[in-house]
Amino acid sequence: MKVTVVGAGAVGATCADNIARKELVRELVLLDIKEGLAEGKAQDMSQTAALLGFDTKIVGCTNDYGKTADSDVVVITSGLPRKPGMTREELIGTNAGIVKGVTENILKNSPNAVIVIISNPMDTMTYLTLTTSGLSKNKIIGMGGILDSARFKYQLSQHLHCNPSDLNAIVIGGHGDTTMIPLIRMATWNSVPVTNFLSSIQQNQIISDTMVGGATLTKLIGTSAWYAPGAAGASLVEAIVRDEKKLFTCCVALDGNYGQSDICLGVPVVVGKDGWEQIVELSLSNEEQELFDKSAAAVRGMNDVLKTL
Ligand code: LAC
Repeated sequence: MKVTVVGAGAVGATCADNIARKELVRELVLLDIKEGLAEGKAQDMSQTAALLGFDTKIVGCTNDYGKTADSDVVVITSGLPRKPGMTREELIGTNAGIVKGVTENILKNSPNAVIVIISNPMDTMTYLTLTTSGLSKNKIIGMGGILDSARFKYQLSQHLHCNPSDLNAIVIGGHGDTTMIPLIRMATWNSVPVTNFLSSIQQNQIISDTMVGGATLTKLIGTSAWYAPGAAGASLVEAIVRDEKKLFTCCVALDGNYGQSDICLGVPVVVGKDGWEQIVELSLSNEEQELFDKSAAAVRGMNDVLKTL
């Protein structure tokens, strides 16, 4: 198995680092447009192999797509990250051109790859890839819901004083500060509804802190977060290369599912070697469905901006 990560910035490099540490593949390629950046980070990571005990070959390259040939999975992290005060949506003009160009180059060399999109605004970049690449819809997966669900579990664990791994909790909808929907009604702590333990004030706090999870970090750090986004990308790669049939919330093409079509949005899907294999339909309450429809309308508005570029 071979995986390529495009973009050796903080998110791409962290994703690559996690893939290497877990020995998910024999060969991992890190590509960036900035001369020497991917080569340097690949070499730095390779020098941790003897310390951490992994044996994944990590190749860094500057824009040399030949080196990415025959990748089974390609993770796209390219584009500008958010600065404090910026929304993910403000990145659309610049990042659309970058993501489209990267996808074209990738597919020339790896026509059968599963493409994982991390670049923001993630829902619109996933839709752009769906509508411009000619790839089957199952091979295009936006990562946002995995990250947002991990952040949701973190917020829940802070209030429940529990291990986040004991929690089952997902975020559906868009990967935006106002478009994501943490499904607290369905969240459980080892099968017990978390709502049994939390006041409605706490529940609302958890929901709103989850929704601005990325923005909070951008404000603190001065740029977009990378540890959780990188780890979330690697978890998705793991589910694909190990054919895990893992149930994750990912941004995928909807075709009547959850009442929406011609859009990519976060819903629970089963992930395996061919990408996402099946959409799992939850019974949403009227209020949750309304939030989902509102999220879809906002993302659709962003997707329309693509037509003006
Ligand atoms: C975040 C970016 C990666 O949410 O979208 O941190």
